[in-house]
Amino acid sequence: MVMRRYGSFFAVLLTSSVLLAQPAGFNYDESKVPQYQLPDPLLMLDGTRVESARQWNQERRVEVFTLFETEMYGRSPGRPEGLHFETLEMADDALDGKAVRKQVRVFFSTNKDGPSMDILIYHPRSVRPVPLFVGLNFQGNHTVHADPAIHITESWVRDRGSASNNRATEMGRGTSASRWDINSILDRGYGLATIYYGDIDPDFHDEFKNGVHALYGQPAADEWGSISAWAWGLSRALDYFETDARLDQRRVAVIGHSRLGKTSLWAGAQDPRFSLVISNDSGCGGAALSRRRFGETVERINTSFPHWFCGNFKKYNGKEDSLPLDQHMLIALMAPRPVYIASAEGDRWADPHGEFLSGLHAVPVYELLGKSGIGARKMPAVDSPVSGTIGYHMRTGKHNVTAYDWQQYLDFADRTMKKRSR
Ligand code: GCU
Repeated sequence: MVMRRYGSFFAVLLTSSVLLAQPAGFNYDESKVPQYQLPDPLLMLDGTRVESARQWNQERRVEVFTLFETEMYGRSPGRPEGLHFETLEMADDALDGKAVRKQVRVFFSTNKDGPSMDILIYHPRSVRPVPLFVGLNFQGNHTVHADPAIHITESWVRDRGSASNNRATEMGRGTSASRWDINSILDRGYGLATIYYGDIDPDFHDEFKNGVHALYGQPAADEWGSISAWAWGLSRALDYFETDARLDQRRVAVIGHSRLGKTSLWAGAQDPRFSLVISNDSGCGGAALSRRRFGETVERINTSFPHWFCGNFKKYNGKEDSLPLDQHMLIALMAPRPVYIASAEGDRWADPHGEFLSGLHAVPVYELLGKSGIGARKMPAVDSPVSGTIGYHMRTGKHNVTAYDWQQYLDFADRTMKKRSR
């Protein structure tokens, strides 16, 4: 009796938290997904069918990439000439002697007072050169672990949890640790590098005056929004890894959650140096097919977050069917490299089924390049990962990154990236 009373109390709590994460007025009913036709990733805009790996690599891939660049995320400027690095701190006996810790500042120009980002790196002491995961974090590097030596960002942070007046505080130390399974990552022989995304571009709309945008001026309609800027920052981290002999820049997996999962996908599409790409609950504008209009829609994302995509993307508000692309083509841009898409059952705002389908519809490109697909023809059951060169799972639970997710990423990385010869 008591159990039952508590049971329904928790059910109410659970329902209201799920509802909060799923705004009203959007479709969450599979039977109401409109009829749609996806653009064929292997059909050129002029109607020519792509039949060889050469045609994909030299013609269609370029076409698809340019569509995403000019219509959705926006072109970014490449590596700046003045880019330079400074090691702020290093310890060989971090985390109870288990890891090497390094904190490196990446200056985006010759100007040391200009925009810069700090990379926090942990890696096992004995593995050399070490394969690693790199991902942006939401609230500051000091939130990923309680380690008192992690520097606290001075950049703008959203007032949430321990941050106040848009400044990060000591209280934030380790508050996101459950999202970064550092012990497992180290135990499995990998390193982890993370960067606070607001160092690159603060996540609010200011007409592109702050962050790295300040160095380049107002973007044109086909130039970078914030997602593209964050992805650009991930490539600058790779520029640093190339200079650090202890890191294996040929085995770098890029990972991100939610808006930062959209970012890791775009980073992987833009920069072939990422040898594995992971999207955790990236949803609309990430792995989910836009044409399904399930949960978040193009109009909603462009309205709530006008700074995320380029100006041109606004043309498609309410007009998903006129997009010359859909997100399966973004997944196809990773080919032939491995890519992993993860969803959560309770994260219907991000459309788990639509995330799976973009992996499934990228398979023809992987197969053309002689790679295996996703290891399933239809949506797998909850907590039942499937994989070929594309991996997918839908985990029990809500919008988050958990140890379960990391276990799948580590297993997938072991299979697809770890043994890669240097
Ligand atoms: C909002 C947004 C999503 C995004 C998420 C996040 O829910 O609508 O597109 O993925 O925030 O980044 O947490």
